[in-house]
This record gives sequence, C-alpha cells and structure tokens, in this order.
Amino acid sequence: MSEILAYLEHGVLSLTFNRVEKKNALTSAMYAALADQLEQAAGDVQTRVLVIQGQESLFTAGNDVSEFLQRPPASMEAPVFRFLRAIADFPKPALAAVCGPAVGIGTTLLLHCDLVYAGDNALFSLPFVNLGLCPEAASSLLLPLRIGHAAANEKLLFGEPFTADEAQELGLVNRVLPPSEVNVFALQQARKLAAKPLASLMVTKTLLRQPQRAAVHAMITEEAAHFERLLKGPAAKEAFGAFLAKRKPDFSGL
Ligand code: COA
Repeated sequence: MSEILAYLEHGVLSLTFNRVEKKNALTSAMYAALADQLEQAAGDVQTRVLVIQGQESLFTAGNDVSEFLQRPPASMEAPVFRFLRAIADFPKPALAAVCGPAVGIGTTLLLHCDLVYAGDNALFSLPFVNLGLCPEAASSLLLPLRIGHAAANEKLLFGEPFTADEAQELGLVNRVLPPSEVNVFALQQARKLAAKPLASLMVTKTLLRQPQRAAVHAMITEEAAHFERLLKGPAAKEAFGAFLAKRKPDFSGL
C-alpha cells in the first residue's frame, strides 16, 4: 500500500501519511509523492481544498533519519524541496489535522497550511538544534511572524516539544479537539470551504500570503544551504547515530 494515501471526494483532496511502523517518518519517495499530488491538485478543477493528515495518535516523526544519513538532499531539486515549494505555493485552501507527534517538518509544514486542527494529544517539536541542524521550510521567517520572536526563539533554540493547547495559545493551531474527532472535523471544515466560490478563496489566500511569498522562497533556499552543510557535520552524525542506536547523543567538544 502507498505510504501517501490520496483520496478526492466532494472537492476535498485528503493526503494521509501512511508509514505508521516508522511513525510516518518522511522519505524522499514520500516527499516526491506529496509534491506530485500538490502540483497536480493546484491545477485540477476537481480539487478545491486540501487536507493533510495522519492517524489518531500520529502525524509524523519528521524526516526519515536513515535517509538523512544515507541519502541527504543534494540539491534544490531534491524531493523534499519540491514538496516545500509545492506546499508554500499551493493556491487553494490547505488544512492540516494533527494528532500525536509532529516533529521537525511535521511542525514547519503547518506554517504553510491555512488552518490547523489538533488533537489534545498533539505534540509539536522543532528539534533542529538538538540534531545539529538548523530550521527549514522557511520556519526561521514564518515562525517568528506567526508566534512572535520570543516564543520562536524558545521553540527553535531549545527544541523542546510543546502541547496542542500551547500551540493554540501561540496561534499555530486554530482549534484543539479530542483526537478521535480531528480528522473528521478537518474534513467537515474542508467541505464547507469546498462549497464556497473557489476564485474568491484563492484570491483571499493569495492576498494573505503574497507579502511574504518571495521572502519565503528565498529563506527556503538560504536555510537549505546551511542545512545541507550541517547535515554532513559531526553534530548531526552524532545525533542521528545516537537516535538509531537508541542512546543519548554526546555533543561534548562539538
Ligand atoms: N526516521 C526514521 N525512523 C524513525 C523516525 C525517523 N524520523 N522516527 C521514528 N522512527 C522509527 C524508529 O527508529 C522505530 O523503528 P524500529 O521499530 O525499527 O526500531 C520506530 O519508528 C518507532 O519509533 P520509536 O522511537 O520507538 O517510537 P516512540 O513512540 O517511542 O517515539 C517519536 C516517537 C516520534 C517521538 C520518536 O520516534 C522520535 O523522536 N523520532 C525521531 C524524530 C526526529 O528526530 N526526526 C527528525 C526531525 S528533523
């Protein structure tokens, strides 16, 4: 079965992470599938609204750690960057339904979604520094714009997980629900939007996003250069080696 499930009904395209045994960790193949779906959906008249979701206890554990070590993204044409450009430029309303862990890109991709609904079990984290890395997905630009500099500094420098209630207080999440209701509620909201005039939805989204559009693309590229360099560095190697060996990382001297 595909690791990205795509289902289109009543104008709503639902994309579901489906690699539960690896906590929905995202591989190049999954980014490529997501990018293909988004690129197609952007111009498809049948698709009016997008929902990205996981399961009742799991959104995604972020980028696949083994791939980071074995096949790090080598250029801006790598599937992860294709996906980031596609979600950043997605012209129709994009909703996310988040339960359980939303690690790394699992949280940063939400900055490109227009509405985020979370289960009260959702746990957001931006652990880039703790992995010897740096922010991605234009989060160094979009996170302070969304939640303010003080909170963005805290989340990005400490990288500690934060709850759905805190995410809602910070303005990252629209609504917190019992986990069993999140995907259903997101779908209902998406259907409501799908019944509205698409041109007006699209212009409204464009107007809301336009002031940051060029800066978002520039930041995705700038962050990627640092990220690729750090990914080959000793701190990232130690962090990922430790994760795979199920031990604590040792950054002494790094
Ligand atoms: N990449 C690759 N494999 C991953 C993964 C990732 N990002 N996250 C989890 N997995 C794998 C684990 O290696 C484990 O595989 P195994 O059963 O073959 O040993 C399996 O998924 C279950 O993970 P586990 O850590 O045992 O689950 P948990 O419920 O205890 O914890 C998380 C869930 C998400 C909190 C934890 O897995 C985690 O922190 N993952 C890493 C997140 C990360 O660093 N992502 C990179 C962000 S840039």
